Amino acid sequence: MDKKKISRRTLLRQSGATLAAAAAIPLSSAIFADAQQPSSTLAGVQSAAPPGQNGQEEQAAEAASRARRMQWWHAAKFGMFIHWGVYSTIERHEWVMENEAIPIEEYMAHAKLFKPKPNAPRAWARLAREAGQRYMVMTTKHHEGFCNFNTQHTTYCAPKQGPGRDLVHEYVEAARAEGLRVGFYYSLMDWHHPDGARCETDEDARKRFVEYTHGLIHDIMSNYGKIDVLWYDVAWPLNADQWESERMNQMVFQLQPDIIVNNRNKLLGDFSTPEQHVQAAEAGRAWETCMTLNDSWGYQAADDNWKSAKTVIRNLVSCVRDGGNYLLNIGPKPDGSVPEPEVNVLREVGQWMKRNGQTIYESDLCQVRRSSYATFTRTGNTLYMHVYFWPGDYVAISGLMTGVKSARLLGDGRKVNFTQNRFQVKLVGLPREAPDHPVTTIALECESEPIQDTLFVRRNKPRDGV
Ligand code: GLC
Repeated sequence: MDKKKISRRTLLRQSGATLAAAAAIPLSSAIFADAQQPSSTLAGVQSAAPPGQNGQEEQAAEAASRARRMQWWHAAKFGMFIHWGVYSTIERHEWVMENEAIPIEEYMAHAKLFKPKPNAPRAWARLAREAGQRYMVMTTKHHEGFCNFNTQHTTYCAPKQGPGRDLVHEYVEAARAEGLRVGFYYSLMDWHHPDGARCETDEDARKRFVEYTHGLIHDIMSNYGKIDVLWYDVAWPLNADQWESERMNQMVFQLQPDIIVNNRNKLLGDFSTPEQHVQAAEAGRAWETCMTLNDSWGYQAADDNWKSAKTVIRNLVSCVRDGGNYLLNIGPKPDGSVPEPEVNVLREVGQWMKRNGQTIYESDLCQVRRSSYATFTRTGNTLYMHVYFWPGDYVAISGLMTGVKSARLLGDGRKVNFTQNRFQVKLVGLPREAPDHPVTTIALECESEPIQDTLFVRRNKPRDGV
């Protein structure tokens, strides 16, 4: 095997490491300076691809490729996740097959009863656009093993079962009609395929199942034009070598040179996928928080634990503040219609995004974060204070080390008066009632990039007179 081959493969395995750091996310503050340092993963690549002209050139090329492929995604910030399949007809969460140990025959009967109305995804795509979401990721196959797309590899797929047509095709058309980027979720774990579990211990079964899996991925990467995201999920029970994940990614990039892939086929891929919580990856590494609107990904009729629009906005703000994306899930009903509470929350978020979207889409990494009633984003030297519990009259920020030049309410541009000393910025004369709902944004023009240091306040605030 020649050197070039080794390093190419290693890079694919490492795909998503820190290589694109500087290009992918603007890193300006000293606080994030360590992002410029090579991380251990990068060192790993370097040792596999011997340092020398060729290795370095290849790394630079890979970094440039990732920066190019991910540009739209970093700008998009907000996406819609869709979990839809046979489980939707059972109305008890997408894990119902395993969590209730439903016999395979009994479960398969539901595939015949899955009869969604034509072009249901059109309403999802419209809703996504209204909500300010710029891409969609839909389950092409979840753990249940049912393929929402057409394939020659199994009859357990939408055109040959209840739906009688290719649901992925309808989804792709719908997303494109609304100008949204198109992502495919694909579960490697499969509770239906005869080899899906025994592949763990039986090498012949593993070979068959890996060929089946690669074949299905080949189908979804070949039959729908340009696809923007491949979102692998649950790799149980195999590891990356057993899945032949490098070969898998190589095939994917061959078929879709501009695609981005996540890290759930046990390789790093292009981005990390924190689930149900907001957590930045190491500096320079792209990440996306995925989250449900209630406690279920697939439709669960009785799950009424809905997040409010305020919670969704707070999460979105926290993601983009730390350089991440937010992929928010809907679980359509078996007929494809979106549950009412999901529609309402997304519409409310969309209204807010119309007035405040610039503070999300154009945001840079923001170091300011401490408050008990606000979260922050930043564009250049402008700090956006997103007040979610409006206290009335005044709000204050502790330890802002940067001079504020002016402040205004983002909604109507009204000037906000303020005082500032070394420890505190106090924005005064505010209305008693929150001017915007569910979150009010105040824009503070600063003299340079806003930086907060609350430890400075704790240490140095005068304690005279005590
Ligand atoms: C988990 C669940 C799965 C869901 C996924 C979304 O892996 O198993 O049901 O699709 O999270 O991130």
